[in-house]
Amino acid sequence: MKICLKYFSGTGNSYKILDTCKKFFINKGCEVELSSVTDEPDIHEEAGLIGFCFPVYAFGIPRICRQYLSGLPKFSEPVKAFVLITAGDPQEAGFSVRESNGILKAKGLDVAYSDVIHMPSNWIVAMNPPPKQEARLIISRGVKKAEQAARDILNGASHHHVFNYPPGYSKFGFYKDYYLFKAGVGHLWRNFRTDETCDACGLCEKICPTGSIRTVNERPEWKKTCEQCMRCANFCPKKAIFQKGEGSVKERNKYYEPTFKPLKLKKHEDR
Ligand SMILES: Cc1cc2nc3c(=O)[nH]c(=O)nc-3n(C[C@H](O)[C@H](O)[C@H](O)COP(=O)(O)O)c2cc1C
Repeated sequence: MKICLKYFSGTGNSYKILDTCKKFFINKGCEVELSSVTDEPDIHEEAGLIGFCFPVYAFGIPRICRQYLSGLPKFSEPVKAFVLITAGDPQEAGFSVRESNGILKAKGLDVAYSDVIHMPSNWIVAMNPPPKQEARLIISRGVKKAEQAARDILNGASHHHVFNYPPGYSKFGFYKDYYLFKAGVGHLWRNFRTDETCDACGLCEKICPTGSIRTVNERPEWKKTCEQCMRCANFCPKKAIFQKGEGSVKERNKYYEPTFKPLKLKKHEDR
């Protein structure tokens, strides 16, 4: 069977989950193509299974994923599909699965399997990601869950993540955060700052998955295509990148999935 897998990933979690599925499928004799939603190859016409993995951003899916799914052609045959969402807290996955499944069903895909996988939080500008050892433990559990999901999917199992309001949030607080981020993501790039330790090394510009950073007068500048994926802030060797109103990240743990190599991926991710 031919399988097409599409991800968006700031710090490697969603990539790791789908890459784990890829390895499992290949072991079972499938032909698999894995690529970013920012990458060229379209979903293969002959695909017998299509899989997606995205991070959750403020209870929804990243804008770029919503745009990608909405831009898919309508399928004349109900091809089987699955959706996996990575979340810093699986109880805070919000509408992410519901949103993805809704768009895919409208495109004529048969979404038979969806789930949320706990991976370390990478939202370094807003909160402290877990320390290294804890992160490694969360990743290894996440990878096991991805292997089980891949096995279940190939066996034809049907499974759906059930929506819940995150504990500790009022309904008002939940909807407020969801809609504020959804409406505001095109403006949040304005909040990025660098402190005096930025030495204009240019790494952030090189690794940005959406090409949203350029160096001007020896300082990075963000633009409105920024998805808030946090790759720049987590990979910055000086921890110099932060956001206005959220404070320095110097004392926080950096996070990226340890095997994730964005410089190698970058040439494929460019649109
Ligand atoms: C802007 C932003 C918003 C986030 N919002 C949530 C959230 O609402 N709930 C949650 O569980 N995790 C949230 N996270 C954490 C990520 O979903 C999680 O770390 C994810 O696995 C990152 O995947 P990636 O490495 O593939 O980008 C957020 C992260 C970012 C950067």
